[in-house]
Amino acid sequence: MILKADLCLVTGASSGIGEAFAVSLARRGHDLVLVARRGGALDALAARLRSEFPVAVETLVADLADPAGVAAVEARLARGDVDLLINNAGMGSLAGFLDIDPADHAAMIAVNVTALMRLTHAAAKAMKAAGRGTIVNVASGIAFNVMPTAAVYAGTKGFVSQFTQALAEEMADSGVTFQLLVPGLTRTNLGGAEENGLFDLFPAEMVQAPEAVAEAGLAGLELGEIVCIPRLEDYGQWEAARDAIRAVGIDPPGNAVASRYGVKLN
Ligand SMILES: NC(=O)c1ccc[n+]([C@@H]2O[C@H](COP(=O)([O-])OP(=O)(O)OC[C@H]3O[C@@H](n4cnc5c(N)ncnc54)[C@H](OP(=O)(O)O)[C@@H]3O)[C@@H](O)[C@H]2O)c1
Repeated sequence: MILKADLCLVTGASSGIGEAFAVSLARRGHDLVLVARRGGALDALAARLRSEFPVAVETLVADLADPAGVAAVEARLARGDVDLLINNAGMGSLAGFLDIDPADHAAMIAVNVTALMRLTHAAAKAMKAAGRGTIVNVASGIAFNVMPTAAVYAGTKGFVSQFTQALAEEMADSGVTFQLLVPGLTRTNLGGAEENGLFDLFPAEMVQAPEAVAEAGLAGLELGEIVCIPRLEDYGQWEAARDAIRAVGIDPPGNAVASRYGVKLN
């Protein structure tokens, strides 16, 4: 999956990992479409990238919790000139499930799940027609974990994980390649993490810089990794964990109900 992208669209490019992706891609000479709600931050980043690198940079202000915002980005992708989509925009929060207004959780699902799915569809359709393209979907290590106070966030990232891995297999012969990017703790202000001192609660060596995550994601594309876990040294650990989970879900032999349930019906 060698990265051959003339034009890359990055969602959530106004800060954090998305901004780092934009810088890494511009440094490699790729033109960009930058998407987020904060137009001022996008314009400032676009001006900086144009001044530092020989690249063209568009900005597209869109609220991905709003169907109209999603439609604007879908329309941009449908033009068929985007070679790399990075679905990075995301919302996060750490608080008890009952302490968060369900409307806020619904907005999180809209951005982390619905918009990501719709933009993947728009891009994959155009890329399949062109016979080439790459889609990177940003999940989280929480997708493989169970974390109280992040039940909905973890659920959204679990969706991103299953969705992306399934599409990578389903579209393996289409010319469209996929990467599931699985950052661990990354020093950004997601959900107010930096402001609230979240990173002080963890050993410094557990926290990565957003620039490191973006660079790892791009290197993972060059390596052809469908699942990129920036901090994981032994990739075999991921493969073993994935295979073990698959075996539990689909591989138990026979159709008898396990004996501990005392059920005699098949
Ligand atoms: N930081 C971590 O520890 C960590 C770990 C694992 C995964 N991740 C994932 O990494 C991705 C990037 O997050 P980050 O850590 O870099 O945090 P961040 O700096 O807060 O970036 C989030 C980005 O998403 C955009 N965004 C949020 N809501 C949006 C909306 N309704 N419409 C359009 N854009 C929206 C934000 O832009 P605007 O506010 O300008 O709209 C911002 O550019 C997320 O998917 C997150 O879940 C982060």
